[in-house]
Amino acid sequence: MTTETPSEITIELNNEIRTQQLGRALGAVAQPGLVVALVGNLGAGKTRFVQAAAEGLDIPREAVNSPTFVLIHEYEGRLPVYHFDTYRLGDIDEFLELGADEYMSGDGVCFIEWADRMEEVLPRDRLSIAFEITGELTRRVTLASGGRVSQSVLNALDQHRSESQS
Ligand SMILES: Nc1ncnc2c1ncn2[C@@H]1O[C@H](COP(=O)(O)OP(=O)(O)O)[C@@H](O)[C@H]1O
Ligand SMILES: [Mg+2]
Repeated sequence: MTTETPSEITIELNNEIRTQQLGRALGAVAQPGLVVALVGNLGAGKTRFVQAAAEGLDIPREAVNSPTFVLIHEYEGRLPVYHFDTYRLGDIDEFLELGADEYMSGDGVCFIEWADRMEEVLPRDRLSIAFEITGELTRRVTLASGGRVSQSVLNALDQHRSESQS
């Protein structure tokens, strides 16, 4: 039986392994042109999630670091991956000066940490992932799609999860 995936799903992650599994699963189903907008407080797990997603895109884990001092990291995996940390950026203009528009409209996969700061220039079709810290080792994530590519990826992720649970 298949049930339709809604445009928003909430998942409780009871430990870091769960976060890694979800990240890897997203990497495995990511499609060209996907923009992933990550929001959540410092230490919520955004970078951990991106590292796992990169693994799912066949990029070695060691290659991916928290880009706090580098504003954009590029990795070559199954698809090109661009990882932005906008925490250090002064404003939206600085984000655009990095070429954000070109990256986001290209055929790679973009991960943008602190995406709420750049919301006005993000494409509508993006997968928004909000992290909430619910305990020392637990997180709640809400994934929401905004268009065709992000919904297709969310569907595939949901499918992937229900298969691995059964
Ligand atoms: N369930 C969990 N998912 C993700 N990280 C967790 C979890 N539980 C504990 N942590 C810890 O929280 C921290 C998350 O750090 P990081 O991914 O760099 O956060 P952010 O990029 O959101 O600032 C890490 O130290 C990690 O070990
Ligand atoms: Mg981070």
